[in-house]
Amino acid sequence: MRIAMLGSGFIGRFYAESIQGQRTRDRITSIYSRREESAKKFASDYGCLHWTTDMEEAIAHPDVDVVCISLPNNLHETAVLLCCKHKKAVITTKPLGRNASEAKRMLEAVETADIFNGYLEDLVYTPKFLKALESVKNGALGRILWSKSRETHPGPHSDWFWDLEQAGGGCILDLGCHCVEIGRNFIGKDIKPVEVMCWADTQVKPIEAEDHAIGLVKYENGAIGQFEVSWTFRGGLDLRDEVMGTEGTIWINNFLRTGFEMFTTGKGADYVAEKAESNSGWLFPVGDELNDLGYNHMFTDMFNAIEKGISPKETFYDGYVVNAVLDASYKSAKTKLWEPVKLDIWRGQTGLSKPSNLVEFDADHYLIKEEMTHYGAKKLILKNKKSGLISERIL
Ligand SMILES: NC(=O)c1ccc[n+]([C@@H]2O[C@H](COP(=O)([O-])OP(=O)(O)OC[C@H]3O[C@@H](n4cnc5c(N)ncnc54)[C@H](O)[C@@H]3O)[C@@H](O)[C@H]2O)c1
Repeated sequence: MRIAMLGSGFIGRFYAESIQGQRTRDRITSIYSRREESAKKFASDYGCLHWTTDMEEAIAHPDVDVVCISLPNNLHETAVLLCCKHKKAVITTKPLGRNASEAKRMLEAVETADIFNGYLEDLVYTPKFLKALESVKNGALGRILWSKSRETHPGPHSDWFWDLEQAGGGCILDLGCHCVEIGRNFIGKDIKPVEVMCWADTQVKPIEAEDHAIGLVKYENGAIGQFEVSWTFRGGLDLRDEVMGTEGTIWINNFLRTGFEMFTTGKGADYVAEKAESNSGWLFPVGDELNDLGYNHMFTDMFNAIEKGISPKETFYDGYVVNAVLDASYKSAKTKLWEPVKLDIWRGQTGLSKPSNLVEFDADHYLIKEEMTHYGAKKLILKNKKSGLISERIL
């Protein structure tokens, strides 16, 4: 692939390291950055043939097959529309839009222009997540009942994130977008998110947006997705997922406790990991951030899909659904009520209801629970179908 990178900041450089870090055929051929010195520096660091301070020039460049948007949230739509104009495949960082209306316009534009579109949600491509999802899909956890995703850190690294107009929201939009897509993947992307209850507050930072929030996303089949997000968490980047089903549970820790623990007095100290707050004392480095954060698997999926002429696992449609869930979260945080998820475009299942919770034991009873006790007795707890009486049977 010949890629135009739009934006030479934090994520643009992470993406570039992932795309070109190992032996690869994929090259960033063009870089757009606002400032000439940043564009030139990026071009020299990553061997780009072309640099520019004109976004359209980078997109339209004849040596570009796919455009990778790594710009602040308020610029995603402008960049996407230029990709549509020049019929270039486009992959966009998260969140797709600042809200669902913006995301919907982008989705409709790429589909009308008939161009490849990919949503760069890296956290559903981490090696641990991919393995966990495979187990979920194979039925190892039974029917999925609940999933929880937590992303918290001490706050973003650039001014524009803290400005409500440019960012479009606080930690709900910035971090909740990851958590919601993780929940959707575990619960089933074809299961409709129907309503949201969310608490949000500005507890610490002197900003208009929220810096801490917790939300519950209810799905049409009765499953529940929980998100916990914060820009006020102290201690680094906490990235954890949990999923629970009728037959099992998975807990994933992607960042702070990866099995790599280190102590240093601080002598010779350097970068530890994204958003690490200290480089001395007991530390939790991450072995290979690019891989552990899912970037490598994500770009492999995107570029393979472009070559094969198929859709990647995450598309603008997914980004749009996520934005719609987050819009309902913002509304709920204000009204303090369950708020419906407004999805003008929905391509999954409809009309689902909660599956029965009655487990047949015999003609007269439902089974509530079976347990082996420490004194060697196997106990059954049963419910009489007619009378509702709950009783024990010891085998
Ligand atoms: N894990 C992830 O997927 C992840 C992580 C971080 C950021 N992001 C997303 O990436 C995007 C960029 O975030 P970042 O962390 O790289 O931010 P950043 O501030 O580090 O970099 C932003 C880039 O855009 C440029 N820019 C800023 N304002 C501009 C303007 N008005 N016109 C043109 N260019 C402008 C900056 O010069 C810089 O090159 C955001 O949408 C953010 O949500 C995703």
